[in-house]
Amino acid sequence: MTDIFYSLESEVRSYSRSWPVEFVQASGATQTDASGAEYLDFFSGAGALNYGHNNPVVIEPLIEYLQSGAVLHSMDMMTPAKRDFLQTFKDVILEPRELPYKVMFPGPTGTNTVEAALKLARKYTGRQHILSFTNAFHGMTLGALSVTGNSMKRQGAGIPLTNSSKIPYDDYFDGETADFLWLERVLEDSGSGVDKPAAIIVETVQGEGGLRAARFDWLRRLSALCAEHEILLIVDDVQAGCGRTGTFFSFEEAGIVPDIVCLSKSIAGSGLPMALTLFRPELDIWSPGEHNGTFRGNNPAFVTATAALKEYWADPSFQEGLATTIDVMHARLGSIAVTTSGAGVRGRGLLSGLCFEDAEAAGKIAAEAFRQGLLLETSGPKDEVVKIMPPLTVTADELERGLDILEAAVRTVTGPAAESPSASGAQKA
Ligand SMILES: Cc1ncc(COP(=O)(O)O)c(C=O)c1O
Repeated sequence: MTDIFYSLESEVRSYSRSWPVEFVQASGATQTDASGAEYLDFFSGAGALNYGHNNPVVIEPLIEYLQSGAVLHSMDMMTPAKRDFLQTFKDVILEPRELPYKVMFPGPTGTNTVEAALKLARKYTGRQHILSFTNAFHGMTLGALSVTGNSMKRQGAGIPLTNSSKIPYDDYFDGETADFLWLERVLEDSGSGVDKPAAIIVETVQGEGGLRAARFDWLRRLSALCAEHEILLIVDDVQAGCGRTGTFFSFEEAGIVPDIVCLSKSIAGSGLPMALTLFRPELDIWSPGEHNGTFRGNNPAFVTATAALKEYWADPSFQEGLATTIDVMHARLGSIAVTTSGAGVRGRGLLSGLCFEDAEAAGKIAAEAFRQGLLLETSGPKDEVVKIMPPLTVTADELERGLDILEAAVRTVTGPAAESPSASGAQKA
């Protein structure tokens, strides 16, 4: 192949293999390729496009900002765009939720905020060890990779990934073992040989690791255990945050307050790179410049982030509408799963999907959906889950059309629907 994408771009590319077309236009939940074919985008930039593509709510202030002569790049210097973002984040997100966090700008990606969180936890506690969960995904840099589960990604490190251990995520043993049995025991046993960790890092829904959603009780017990043993709790809300699960932070409904929170992806509201690390004020023991990065002051991202927070999160009606979208999607996923042998629903909110006992089915369904004009990716250690992530702003009509295509793709790959729910092999989420 002589096309420059194939001849020059590295073999490491992946999404362009699943969707081998050139996308030229994008608006809301739709992308258009060079031939004019339209695709409903239920991938949403892996969670970076929660408000859709080129949403006028963020694009108009961005264009105005770009033409105004204001500062684009500012490291961590003070600018009006950063002031507006900080004030809006405080007024619209932190204060109404009574969250006391300080705000740190690490480099602009998810893995950057995870690295900052791990460093801070180690510095604050003076301990080295971090616990993370089976099938977790936290990013590609060495620290984040050391707390990630996926063996293929871990091997990419090329060196031992140390100072961290994995513990079972919620329901890892299919309900056969009491929650936190091992963790409680070793933390209380000074002879266990397990070093007391600085922190435990968790995703409330495992976005890349198979869309398992932790139960709220399980999260509460985890939070209580951390508090009892003076271990910091880090919630990585890079993918599940910014409204994906129905509330701004994915841990709100569990009623827990993590010590550190990682945000990125949709915090900019536009697809522009931006990340935040939030932490309790007493943890703010950084020396100036101890963790830095050239692209922390991405002012266009501050502008679009502020616009999205004001438009969507200052008004409770957005979250109410989101709850309806989530209900509609889950009702439909439930009905597809219950009439499909070996299928089940996974996830929470609009970070959900269908998992298949036959792991190969998910990839085939995503490929068939693409042929029918719907972008979906897979998730899980065997790519056994079809991940369905429409923008939070998806219209009722777009949602229905996308789910119709999904259902048609499921039927094409797995055969006709089972006649009655009782005849199905639907499994628990
Ligand atoms: C939970 C979680 N943390 C961290 C990351 C890493 O983010 P990035 O790819 O921006 O480095 C991801 C990416 O998918 C993620 O889902």
